[in-house]
Amino acid sequence: MNEALRQAPLHSESSQTLDPQNWDEIRAQGHRMLDDMLDYAANIRDRPVWRPIPDEVRAHFRAKLPLESTDLGEVYREFTDFIVPYATGNVHPGFMGWVHGGGTAVGMLAEMLAAGLNANLGGRDHIPIEVERQIVEWTRQMFGFPAGASGIFVTGTSMANLMAVLVARTAALGRSVRQHGVGDEGASLTAYTSTAAHGCISKAMDIAGFGSDALRCIAVDRSHRIDVAALRARIVLDRDAGLKPFLVVGSAGTVDIGAIDDLKALSELCREQQLWFHVDGAYGALGILSPALAPRLAGLEHADSIALDFHKWGQVPYDAGFLMVRDGERHRDTFAAPAAYLRRETRGLAAGSSWPCDLGPDLSRGFRALKTWFTLKTFGTERLGAMITRTCALAAYLETRILAEPRLELLAPVQLNIVCFRYRAADANKVNGDIVIDIQESGIAAPSTTILDGQLAIRAAIVNHRTDACDIDALLSAVLDFGARRSSCDDGEVLNVERSPPLAM
Ligand SMILES: Cc1ncc(COP(=O)(O)O)c(C=O)c1O
Repeated sequence: MNEALRQAPLHSESSQTLDPQNWDEIRAQGHRMLDDMLDYAANIRDRPVWRPIPDEVRAHFRAKLPLESTDLGEVYREFTDFIVPYATGNVHPGFMGWVHGGGTAVGMLAEMLAAGLNANLGGRDHIPIEVERQIVEWTRQMFGFPAGASGIFVTGTSMANLMAVLVARTAALGRSVRQHGVGDEGASLTAYTSTAAHGCISKAMDIAGFGSDALRCIAVDRSHRIDVAALRARIVLDRDAGLKPFLVVGSAGTVDIGAIDDLKALSELCREQQLWFHVDGAYGALGILSPALAPRLAGLEHADSIALDFHKWGQVPYDAGFLMVRDGERHRDTFAAPAAYLRRETRGLAAGSSWPCDLGPDLSRGFRALKTWFTLKTFGTERLGAMITRTCALAAYLETRILAEPRLELLAPVQLNIVCFRYRAADANKVNGDIVIDIQESGIAAPSTTILDGQLAIRAAIVNHRTDACDIDALLSAVLDFGARRSSCDDGEVLNVERSPPLAM
């Protein structure tokens, strides 16, 4: 050991730990922070949804590594001045882009409690792991999975889908694939999903070593549901060519327009063909909590695995992805890896096997389960289901208003909570792309875009529990307003978008 380490002080006086010198001061500061964040959520409508980041604000985050201490109050001021006004905007009810949950005050408080406990949920015998097991059990009940099913929190559905591909791989090739790799047999494995599936499925096939070409993207019908007859035909074709179909990924809520595949038909096909049936239910799977939507998810209960996010329709603050596997043994076979330093005991802190690290690639893991536990308990599944139903009703309201407005055109059937439409114009793709950016920069709302049959769509995904009819109205007036201005603009002309002023805390 070098001399500098030997000379370092041994006693942890308060000046040498990272604990505050004065607990009263940090308590007061903490209360201010808590009040501010509650006010932030309570008064979110007073703010623009999003605002462009000025260069000087961006430059603030190109600072040198801080060698010296800075007063907490001062660091917090930087947070209020430079971070809060330029956040993503998904707490705001006008945020309708991509698929973003709105979070809740309850989830925020739970996240603070989790950070206070600083629990590591990779393993060992402590109650935070029992909380995660409680969520696994509740999720199992929600989806009608059998006893023996396993589940684990992950970052998001992209990770959960990747892990599901790996579990399906182990099921197809046997546990030895973990020592020997996929080999020649793996090179002939093929997987199936639809052209409307999320891009992370193809990425998962790539990362898992199969290559994205081994994923067959099957055509969809007008409603973006996978063509099951075409799927069956492709499986037969591949088998005839000597390939080994092993996995079908169905979608419960496609990212573009919210289509739900015929999960029952897919589950039957997979049973008949002895294929692993995985469902990407990133946001749609929690539709199971809505009595109005649950029947449309029929067949989900027969899946071999389901990927979903509690941070989308579940409104749990980011991140809270989840993977559920019907056969927990298969799940453990894929990831459990014994190590001397992770030895299990029957008593003491190393008891309680199996551990979450046996169910995924992560060893160190945070307490995502706590904010999900608080959310499920505080609101209850009935209230969450009613909120999910309401977001779909708002999407239907938006659809009705679009159909009644000759200047607008609906671009896809509205099946869930996502509405794709456009402003009618010459050079519509350019005009509608500009309209979306104009609206985002105005701070009025934040839709995103997608391309449907080569047509650029304004895409509004109503995921946030705070969104109301007035937010739909505001989005529509903004589309009509910016649409009129854009259509009358010369090419390349810069529109002067009026922006709301920043609002520091
Ligand atoms: C259908 C679908 N699958 C997968 C994902 C990826 O989920 P995540 O962003 O949590 O990784 C999304 C994200 O919106 C999605 O909508």
